[in-house]
Amino acid sequence: MGNLKSTGAFSDESKYKYEAPGPNDSRSSCPALNTLANHGYLPRDGNNITPEVLQRAAQEKIGLSWLTAKIIIRQAYKTVGKNGVLSLSDLSYHAPESMEHDGSLSRVDAALSNNQQGKFNQERFNKLVSFSKDGEFLTTEDVAAARLYFKADSQANNPQYLWNNDAEAAIWTEASILLHILVKRGRISIEDAKLFFEEETFPHGWQKYPSFGVLELRSATKALKNAARELEERQ
Ligand code: HEM
Repeated sequence: MGNLKSTGAFSDESKYKYEAPGPNDSRSSCPALNTLANHGYLPRDGNNITPEVLQRAAQEKIGLSWLTAKIIIRQAYKTVGKNGVLSLSDLSYHAPESMEHDGSLSRVDAALSNNQQGKFNQERFNKLVSFSKDGEFLTTEDVAAARLYFKADSQANNPQYLWNNDAEAAIWTEASILLHILVKRGRISIEDAKLFFEEETFPHGWQKYPSFGVLELRSATKALKNAARELEERQ
């Protein structure tokens, strides 16, 4: 498939309506990938996904740039790919080298959930939402506060807490992508966050980001970390 700079794929949108996953469908610890599968942009059963299929969906339907998608996807296949494919549930693999990590925004740590780290947890998500200061939107500062909270909570309460530089980088990167992909006017509406995390579908009227590049990701991550640092300094 080559470098897939742009594909024009998925032209017949009528084929890509939301369908909730069945009990045997494979789903992941990533709400974005589950959303793509629930709409059929990834195989609806979540199995046998090639990097090319994931790359096309991440670019065309989420709006990651070619390089941003490539870097994330390469890491996924390096850690859990088998014979060039993966199933979404493979991404819940929990180990020092895995993409899955403790201290997530919407999933409980592996050791504290009887290995349910791939599954959405309503209580945890409600906690995330509770960081909204106005009850309507999550701002960069709110998400930074939530990120700090969940990390500290895992550190304090998970005796098998697994942390390293990759996990540290991942938590800020994921939250930055979240803030920039779902964001409208600099904040995520709680209604949109609920659709994305609880239903694993796209927010109403959602349009993909034009092309979220590596430099944008770096500066978004820096902004989120700066917000977190300011919060820590105020404490
Ligand atoms: C392109 C390929 C992608 C791969 C392979 C991937 C993989 C993953 C994995 C393995 C996790 C679990 C980390 C954890 O333990 O919390 C995760 C979490 C997450 N991903 Fe993705 N992801 C991808 C794209 C995206 C995109 C485009 C978004 C955009 C919104 C996104 C948003 C998130 C968020 C917000 C989380 C954190 C969930 C939480 O903390 O509860 N991901 N991703």
